[in-house]
Amino acid sequence: MKRKLLVAGNWKMHGSLKFVDGMMQELNDMLPAQRNYDVAVFPVYIHLHQVINNKPAQVLCGAQNLSEHDDGAVTGEVSAAMLSDLGCDMVLVGHSERRVMNNESNAEVAKKFAQALKYGIQPILCVGESSVERQSNQTFDVVWAQIKAVIDEVGVEKLGQGVIAYEPVWAIGTGETATAEQAQEVHQFIRSQLALNDDTIARRIRILYGGSCKGSNAHELFSMPDVDGGLIGGAALTAQDFMAICQQADILSQGV
Ligand code: PGA
Repeated sequence: MKRKLLVAGNWKMHGSLKFVDGMMQELNDMLPAQRNYDVAVFPVYIHLHQVINNKPAQVLCGAQNLSEHDDGAVTGEVSAAMLSDLGCDMVLVGHSERRVMNNESNAEVAKKFAQALKYGIQPILCVGESSVERQSNQTFDVVWAQIKAVIDEVGVEKLGQGVIAYEPVWAIGTGETATAEQAQEVHQFIRSQLALNDDTIARRIRILYGGSCKGSNAHELFSMPDVDGGLIGGAALTAQDFMAICQQADILSQGV
């Protein structure tokens, strides 16, 4: 049986108080209250409170990052306890933009994953290969090393409390989407590797696809057997584009 789909909008460093107001109003108007799939949005830290106070019921809200530390002299960082206090449901860890621009290592990402769980926040672990890595047939090795670091830190059972997002770096923000078959191949690989550790978790964990996902390709991607929704960047920035993806999740969730 397919897992419950999740459509997650990563707003990255976009938005303003006015933007958030408008988006919340539109999502309240457009999103059906009865849904068989999950929807989540990830604004910047300073917009979290506004989203949490104005979002439609049952839309989940998450941060794009968190500190690996509990608290203390860590200027400019935000802790898991603070996110939990605010009412965050989820948090992204290891987005490729942070891995590249902030030199986040697999070990650091794994610590952040652990930290989120410690405070009852569901982490979405982002993994994915660069185009050079794909061209040199390293996709599986890179993706598995990113996941293995988390298993080493928290164990496979706790990994299973999170979500994985496979986001090939070459497809993020480029308009170049992985084909549904390319996505399925990596998702299936992840699940089969996890099954070697724990079959139940392998079958239960949600694996999202991310990278230029939009209304026109969401159906094909989400209907792959091991693709459980999407982590959406550019197409999450207007309610219309985001709803076009949600509608595909809706169609695929009928009767589930
Ligand atoms: P994109 O971003 O949909 O704009 O490619 C996806 C992501 O980075 O999460």
